[in-house]
Amino acid sequence: MFSLGADKAITRYVNEVLRPTPGMKMLDVGCGPANILSYLPSLDYTGIDLNAKHIAYARRRYGDRGRFIAGNAADDLKQEGKQFDLINISALLHHIADSEAISLFASLARLLKPNGRIVTIDNVWLPRQRVAVRLFNYLDSGTNIRTPEGYLRLLNGMGFDVQTLFLNDLLRIPYDHIIMIARKAS
Ligand SMILES: C[S@@+](CC[C@H](N)C(=O)[O-])C[C@H]1O[C@@H](n2cnc3c(N)ncnc32)[C@H](O)[C@@H]1O
Repeated sequence: MFSLGADKAITRYVNEVLRPTPGMKMLDVGCGPANILSYLPSLDYTGIDLNAKHIAYARRRYGDRGRFIAGNAADDLKQEGKQFDLINISALLHHIADSEAISLFASLARLLKPNGRIVTIDNVWLPRQRVAVRLFNYLDSGTNIRTPEGYLRLLNGMGFDVQTLFLNDLLRIPYDHIIMIARKAS
C-alpha cells in the first residue's frame, strides 16, 4: 500500500490514525522493512515480519531504534512478555485468508494492553466504487481484498469494540482504504 506512494500518505496515516505518543509500546505486524519508523516519534517499537530479508534490512537501517523479529506473528510471539499500547497491521490482511487472519487476531488479543488499540488498514471493495479503484484492486497482489463486512467478520466474537473509517484519498492514485480500530470491549 504505502509503496505506491508516499511520504504524505504515511505521514497522514501516522498523524491522523495511529496517533503515536512518545514512549508508547508499539507492535508492527507485517512490518516489512519497517519504513514507518521514519515517521514515528521515539517509542518502544517491535516489528515482526515473515520475510527475513525485510527484517535484516530494518536492522541495518534502524539499528537500535527498534526490535526486529523474523517470524510469524500468529505463532512466534507466544513467549512475548510485554503488552502493547498500539498494534499496527498495515496492508497485511488483504494478503491472507480468513482462517489465518482469525488466528492472528486471536494471538494478538493477548498482547494488547487493556486500553490499547489494534489498527488495521487495507484496500476494500465498496458498492458503487470508482472504476479505477476497482481496477487497482484487481491488479493488487493481495488475493483477499474484502468488503467492509468481510473485514469486520475477522474480528467477530473476539471481545473487541471495532470502529471503522474509510479513506478515499490517501494515495495519489484512486484507492479506497478501510481502517479498523479495535479496542478490548469493557
Ligand atoms: C504488503 S506488506 C506490508 C508491509 C508494511 N506493513 C507496509 O504497510 O508497507 C505485508 C507484509 O506482511 C508480512 N506478513 C504476512 N503475514 C504475516 C504474519 N503472519 N506474521 C508476520 N508477517 C506477516 C509479509 O511478509 C509482508 O512483508
